[in-house]
Amino acid sequence: MENLPRHVAIIMDGNGRWAKKRGLIRSMGHDNGAKVVSTITTECSNLGIEQLTLYAFSTENWKRPKAEVAFLMKLLKNFVKNETPNMMQNNIIFRPIGRLYEFPQGVQDTLNETVEMTKNNTGTTLSLALNYSGRSEITDTFKKLAYQVSNGQLSPEAIDEDLINNNLFTAGMPELDLMIRTAGELRLSNYLLWQVSYAELWVTDVLWPDFTVDIFYKALEAYSKRERRFGGLV
Ligand code: IPE
Ligand code: IPE
Ligand code: MG
Repeated sequence: MENLPRHVAIIMDGNGRWAKKRGLIRSMGHDNGAKVVSTITTECSNLGIEQLTLYAFSTENWKRPKAEVAFLMKLLKNFVKNETPNMMQNNIIFRPIGRLYEFPQGVQDTLNETVEMTKNNTGTTLSLALNYSGRSEITDTFKKLAYQVSNGQLSPEAIDEDLINNNLFTAGMPELDLMIRTAGELRLSNYLLWQVSYAELWVTDVLWPDFTVDIFYKALEAYSKRERRFGGLV
């Protein structure tokens, strides 16, 4: 495949609708969605895509009923634990992003264990965006830089786009090339607001638990044909 993106982000939406369509409870949709995460991660590794950043839990998702949030926490822990051998086999580096310190300690411990185990791998980086939102990320970055200015460690003159990039949760990642959203909504829902600036957008009506490698290939094929101008002329 030619002209592959280096960095793909996915808003994995539609788990609830998938379950509802089948007369199942929402958590069944999340369970089936988690299986697709594994499939697509492995495919990115096969293709040699450098960075896959998946929106798994937004800062706004805490607003959901307590039972759903509790289910998602349990699923997250089990998923990361069960997926670790697959990550090792596929040389995947696990790098969750977001305000991770707000998760229950048990979830944080599981995340840290897998980060530690996979840190010397050299293949695809899998980032799960967890308790993540673009605005909270930008706010945290402002705060961090403001402290450095007030300590005299940083001059306001030295603040440029590279410095901001290097202080976001996504520091060091390649530029976002392709943003995919499943389940048809035409919005970003607070995802990677800074990083999305010149990313190509691709939306499908397919619900996340129904997403397949074939559909992923359709997105990659569409991406490969886009003419990216970055504001210039071709
Ligand atoms: C996406 O599926 C998963 C999370 C946000 C955790 P949803 O749960 O939002 O599914 P819909 O949008 O209700 O179908
Ligand atoms: C975005 O989906 C967040 C994740 C996929 C984790 P939502 O279902 O939360 O977004 P809205 O509410 O449709 O904007
Ligand atoms: Mg949704």
